Amino acid sequence: MPNFPNVIKSKLPKVGTTIFTIMSALANEHKAINLSQGFPNFETSPELISLVNKFMKKGFNQYAPMQGLLSLREAIAEKMLGLYSVSYSPDTEITITAGGTQAIYTAITAMVKEGDEVIIFEPAYDCYAPAIELQGGIPVYISLKSPDFHIDWEEVKRVISQKTKMIIINTPHNPTGAVMTAADMKQLEKITSNTDIVILSDEVYEHIIFDGLKHESVSKYPKLAERSFVVYSFGKTYHTTGWKMGYCLAPANLMTEFRRVHQFLVFCVNTPIQHAVAEYMKNKDEYLNLGAFYQEKRDRFIALIKGSKFTYVPASGSYFQLLDYSKISKEKDTEYAIRLTKENGVASVPNSVFYHNRLDLHLLRFCFAKTDETLEQAAEKLCAI
Ligand SMILES: Cc1ncc(COP(=O)(O)O)c(C=O)c1O
Repeated sequence: MPNFPNVIKSKLPKVGTTIFTIMSALANEHKAINLSQGFPNFETSPELISLVNKFMKKGFNQYAPMQGLLSLREAIAEKMLGLYSVSYSPDTEITITAGGTQAIYTAITAMVKEGDEVIIFEPAYDCYAPAIELQGGIPVYISLKSPDFHIDWEEVKRVISQKTKMIIINTPHNPTGAVMTAADMKQLEKITSNTDIVILSDEVYEHIIFDGLKHESVSKYPKLAERSFVVYSFGKTYHTTGWKMGYCLAPANLMTEFRRVHQFLVFCVNTPIQHAVAEYMKNKDEYLNLGAFYQEKRDRFIALIKGSKFTYVPASGSYFQLLDYSKISKEKDTEYAIRLTKENGVASVPNSVFYHNRLDLHLLRFCFAKTDETLEQAAEKLCAI
C-alpha cells in the first residue's frame, strides 16, 4: 500500500513497541519463563467468574451508566470508609473506568493544558509521560533515590514552578516495590499547600504491601484529598488484569471535569463485570488477605534466589522485585535482559525503560505474581548463572 498521506507527523514520535511486548515475544520464542510482564499466571476466583456469568445470563449486557453502576460505586464508597475512614460520594466523586490506565489518561487529559508541567518520579510506570505529551504538557522528571527509591522532597521544591499543574505519585511503586510513608505524605501536603497543584495518586497496588507496612493513601489526608485524583484497579486486586476494570476517586469539582472527558473516551465500561464485582466486594477478606498472599510469594522468590549472584533490596509492596546483576555483568540492562532470556531462559524487564534517559543501570524487574512452580523454575535458572 502506498503511504497516505506521507506528511503524517507522529504525535508520539519516540513511542515504539513497548518493552513488555518485546520481552514477552522473546520469552515465547526462546521458551523462557516469563517474569517480565506484570500479570498473575494463576486463576482468578471461580466464584467471581460465576458471578460475571450469572449477570451475563440474566441479561445485563447493555451499556452501563456513564459514571458506573450505582451498586459498585456504593461498594467502593463503603470500602474507602472502612479502609481509610474517608467519605467519597458515589453520586459525584467516584467513576468506574476501563482499568487504572484509562483513569490515569482521563485525569491527565481533563487537567493538563498546553505548556503545563507535570512532575513524574522515575523510574515511572510507562503510561504517564505519553498522556501528558498528548495534551501538549511537559513531563518534568525527578529520579527516586537509590537504593530504596525514596523521594527527595528538597528536589521537588526546587523544580516546582508557576507552570507546575500536577504531581504524579505511585505507591506501592512499580517497578521498584517502594512504598511512600506518612512522612512523605506530610511533605507532599506541605509543598502543595497554597498552590493550585493537582495530585494524581496511582494506588493500584494498595493491598499489595508487606512487612506490616500500611498503605498511605492520599485520600487519608484531607489537604491532599481535596486536590487529588486517586486511581485503583480491580485487575490487581482480583487477579483479573485482562478485564481492564478500575476506578477513580476525586472531589466533586475535579470529578466533574474527569467525567467530561470520560464520557467521550469510553462513555462507560463492562456492565456484567460491574454487577459481579459489586457483589464480590462484600467479601472483604479477598482484598484484606492480598498482602499476605503476595508477601509469601516475594519471600519464596527471594529465598529461592539466595544462593545466586543477584543482589536486591526486598520489595516493600507491588508484585515486582528488582534484582541487581552488577556481580554478573557490566552490560547495559537492555542487553543483559535479552541475553538472560535467550541464554538462561528467564525474561524480565530492564529498569532503564522506566526512565526517559538513564542508561547506567544494572537492575532488572521480575514479576513474582506467579505460581510457586514457575517461581521455582525461574529461580533454578537464575541460581545456575
Ligand atoms: C503502577 C501502575 N499503574 C497503573 C496500572 C494500570 O492498571 P490497569 O491494568 O488496571 O489499567 C499498572 C498496571 O500494570 C501499574 O503497574
